[in-house]
Amino acid sequence: MINNYCNKILLGDCLDLFKNIPDESIDMTFADPPFNLKKKYSSYTDSLELQTYLDWCGKWIGEMVRVTKPTGSIFVHNIPKWLTHYATFLNKIACFKHWIAWEAPTAPMGKSLQPAHYGILFYTKSAKGTKIYELRQPHKRDRKQGYLWKDYGGKKDLLHPFGPLIADVWTDIHRVRHASKRDLHPCQLPIHLLDRLILMVTDENDIVLDPFSGTGTTAISAKRLGRRYIGFELDKKYKEISEQKLIQVEPNYKIGDSWVSFYRNDIITLRNIDWNKLEKFFNVPLSAKLVDYQKAELKSNIYIPSEILPENKEENQNSSSDIFMLTNENITFDLFRQSKSKLFENKTSG
Ligand SMILES: C[S@@+](CC[C@H](N)C(=O)[O-])C[C@H]1O[C@@H](n2cnc3c(N)ncnc32)[C@H](O)[C@@H]1O
Repeated sequence: MINNYCNKILLGDCLDLFKNIPDESIDMTFADPPFNLKKKYSSYTDSLELQTYLDWCGKWIGEMVRVTKPTGSIFVHNIPKWLTHYATFLNKIACFKHWIAWEAPTAPMGKSLQPAHYGILFYTKSAKGTKIYELRQPHKRDRKQGYLWKDYGGKKDLLHPFGPLIADVWTDIHRVRHASKRDLHPCQLPIHLLDRLILMVTDENDIVLDPFSGTGTTAISAKRLGRRYIGFELDKKYKEISEQKLIQVEPNYKIGDSWVSFYRNDIITLRNIDWNKLEKFFNVPLSAKLVDYQKAELKSNIYIPSEILPENKEENQNSSSDIFMLTNENITFDLFRQSKSKLFENKTSG
């Protein structure tokens, strides 16, 4: 029954569409609802009376919890003001896990503090038995010199070669600001934000449902990570944009048999339990001390999904030709590259 709705963006009001979804059939629900801040959506008025907005939010939050499996997780993204209300609903029907602070500076709002994060409420359906995986992100480094950003004092020997376990404050994912990267949508989320959540609480082929799909960020993330998706969207134009983008997405965010999240040419999130299998694909610093200035880098670009690589070419344009060799396990690849960047040359030949 649920298969009829999988891998589709369904057009309509989320409360109507939820009626088709059986109880406890979904592994992860994620919502990024309208913020009631008078944003300009094409077919939705984002300015309800306070109580009307909150009553409506209580209804779809209740539906998210109803359809989530006992092993599943529920996420809601919003500004802290609304999350405090959502938490009141959720505390009665689900189990609080974390308030994830996603650093994202916004415009100054007046005489008070400048808002600098969005929140993502993370609840589980059950108190025990939830599917949750620990994640790792790359070490934060100085952009020019490449040294570790933090001084770990005498503890550097204990550092993981790839990077630390991910905590509940996320500072390494930036909002989609640049017009060339945006759809015609007022508040599109970065796909690798969703990748991180999906890698944390689902496995391959699990089902991820987003009742406010927008231009399909959650669906795209789910598809490229080999999960199934269900999106609800009120607006026909946003549904069409999502579908056009989804056609071009492949389930290829994978190295060996481990799913990972890429951002540009780097892996930005991986699962801790996968590191043993992934390590052989990386040039890792040979001693723990070298982690201070040597990043764990993929041995070859062939592991990077092809749709990411053209961006690479753009970044390295205006340059002279340059041939270099990369050793990948037992194979040696000749790669023809367009690069004038000294940094890039040093990195690849060193
Ligand atoms: C904050 S946006 C979501 C953006 C999305 N996360 C993305 O990255 O593209 C909220 C979306 O919910 C849609 N929407 C508003 N009311 C809805 C309803 N009752 N049912 C389904 N979708 C709705 C709006 O059209 C809008 O696209």
